[in-house]
Amino acid sequence: QVRARAIGCGHYLPERVVTNEELARRIDTSDEWIRTRTGIRRRHIAAEGEKTSDLAIAAARAALANAGLTASSLDALVVATATPDQTFPSTATRVQYGIGMPNGFAFDIQAVCAGFIYALANANGLILSGQAKRVMVIGAETFSRILDWDDRSTCVLFGDGAGAVILEAAEGTGTAADRAVLATCLHSDGAHNRILYVSGGPSTTGLAGHLRMEGKEVFRHAVVKLAEVAEEVMAKAGVEGGELDWMVPHQANLRIIESTAKKAGLPMSKVVVTVQDHGNTSAASIPLALSTAVADGRIKPGHLLLMEGIGGGLAWGSALLRW
Ligand code: ACO
Repeated sequence: QVRARAIGCGHYLPERVVTNEELARRIDTSDEWIRTRTGIRRRHIAAEGEKTSDLAIAAARAALANAGLTASSLDALVVATATPDQTFPSTATRVQYGIGMPNGFAFDIQAVCAGFIYALANANGLILSGQAKRVMVIGAETFSRILDWDDRSTCVLFGDGAGAVILEAAEGTGTAADRAVLATCLHSDGAHNRILYVSGGPSTTGLAGHLRMEGKEVFRHAVVKLAEVAEEVMAKAGVEGGELDWMVPHQANLRIIESTAKKAGLPMSKVVVTVQDHGNTSAASIPLALSTAVADGRIKPGHLLLMEGIGGGLAWGSALLRW
């Protein structure tokens, strides 16, 4: 049975680090407020002129190096992003060109903070259906470009970055023992558009707009929906919470992460947390956390990972991957 196996990962963070203290010098906030509400201490912000595709290209190159491959061996590339370089062409085609990938096809996926889960599910589907044999899956964002830097309730929460994972077709047994994507679950509900959105776009204002959020409402949905979708994906794969080695959640807020881990029966020692250093990097946050934990040796071959995320739409989802 064909399965999609992860064979490498990588990430990239812009050089510039902005601490809570630095923000507190510019707007009416404090390190204490940001840390106790969210767990965030610092975030990386892209340099002037540094685009989402630049971050994605750096992450993709790191993943290729990690897998010992060249771009010519890829036959598909998916970029999850809500902050594309341009309305079109897709950021993915810019990345395809940037890494020197002459074959195959590339496209973007837009599911905001759930984007990486959506991209992984689609890449898995391409492999299972025989459309592609080796797929680069990237989450990349420059949320700093769509923040209202005078709105203290949102601008302190986000950061920029990119992470990438390469999936490859491999023979498996079809059981949860396979080192592969074991199951994915996707959901969305457009009835909640107004609690998290960007106030612009090509067919409305013609401008990029700014991120707007009703934080408390988003929080309320997140803790319920993430717990449900974590349970759903484990049931789908026939896996118990006790078998998980790591939860690699979307990194929006430490309190949401703690609540989801508790409901899944996982101690925080089994949760990869990077939100303190990266802030919320939307679609990039899961592959950034994954790649960080692979690089520092926490995630090892054969480990069972639960990934989950929720964002604007609302759109949410989960994936089980045996690394
Ligand atoms: N610094 C200081 N004070 C602030 C700040 C700030 N940066 N931001 C807001 N405040 C003030 C508010 O003005 C308010 O003051 P008031 O009581 O005088 O009116 C007070 O702090 C409380 O504000 P709330 O918004 O009620 O604060 P809350 O405790 O709900 O925390 C937060 C806000 C952190 C945004 C929280 O609601 C949250 O984490 N929500 C989830 C949001 C999230 O994670 N979104 C991302 C998920 S989806 C995605 O990833 C795109």
